[in-house]
Amino acid sequence: MCVTLSLHYGVGADWEQGEGCFALEPVLEVTDLVKRFERKGRADVVAVDGVSFCVDAGECVGLVGGSGSGKSTIAQMVTRLVEPTSGKVVLCGRDVTHVRGAELRAITKDVQMVFQNPVSSFDPRRTLGEGVAESLRNLGMDKPAARARACELLEQCGLSASMADRYPREVSGGQCQRAAIARALAPDALLVVCDEATSALDVTVQAQIVRLLERIQRERGLAMLFICHDLALVQGFCNRVLVMSEGRIVEEGAASEVLARPHHPYTRRLLKS
Ligand SMILES: Nc1ncnc2c1ncn2[C@@H]1O[C@H](COP(=O)(O)OP(=O)(O)O)[C@@H](O)[C@H]1O
Ligand SMILES: [Mg+2]
Repeated sequence: MCVTLSLHYGVGADWEQGEGCFALEPVLEVTDLVKRFERKGRADVVAVDGVSFCVDAGECVGLVGGSGSGKSTIAQMVTRLVEPTSGKVVLCGRDVTHVRGAELRAITKDVQMVFQNPVSSFDPRRTLGEGVAESLRNLGMDKPAARARACELLEQCGLSASMADRYPREVSGGQCQRAAIARALAPDALLVVCDEATSALDVTVQAQIVRLLERIQRERGLAMLFICHDLALVQGFCNRVLVMSEGRIVEEGAASEVLARPHHPYTRRLLKS
């Protein structure tokens, strides 16, 4: 029997040692993750209370829950913007929970975020093209090549290359979010985390951005964690959905299954709202 362990994702898993992510391990594995925020003179907030899940290669996982349920805190721990209180974050088999320095910088390339507010996620003094090209420049690409690649990515995200010369405030919210998606794709990340990436947009634009993310996720076989508060939005897009309430995952399953037959009362309430 031949077991092919050498199947490499080829998505730029550029760890210093040149190791990559192998097909048999999840891209992201989160185990017993806890975040306790300490507040002076007031009770601590346990924003995330023992959460475990994984995202496989090519899989889009929806993380859904009401406001304050701990979704963004999870996103920030996965991207190491916030230090976990306890638990483990493993990226392609490598424990990255407490890495620092160069290793931490490598993670910021390997895990890309798309935020709720696209305009404020860009530097207002730099053009969208410069914003998209930044990670490529940091990876050592020369300026003309990075610019050409940025234009290509903007076009793949449905924008004309001329948008590269616009400043974030000179484009619509939807256009700016397309540029933010192009920026997330630039460094060939292992995982893209979208935190309420469509929530600030009006409904028609929201649908367009979901379709764009869906197309890109499928075409590139990207591992994606798609966070939103709207359970209906993940239908048809995410393979699996995790439902969060008060820092815990209260239900999980195939998106169609959870939507059709929600078990937890919280999920039912979320569907009705
Ligand atoms: N830096 C912080 N300090 C104190 N509490 C925080 C901090 N960040 C988030 N929280 C609290 O943690 C909980 C979860 O927040 P968050 O992860 O932003 O939820 P969501 O993204 O699901 O709306 C909320 O009660 C929030 O007020
Ligand atoms: Mg949030």
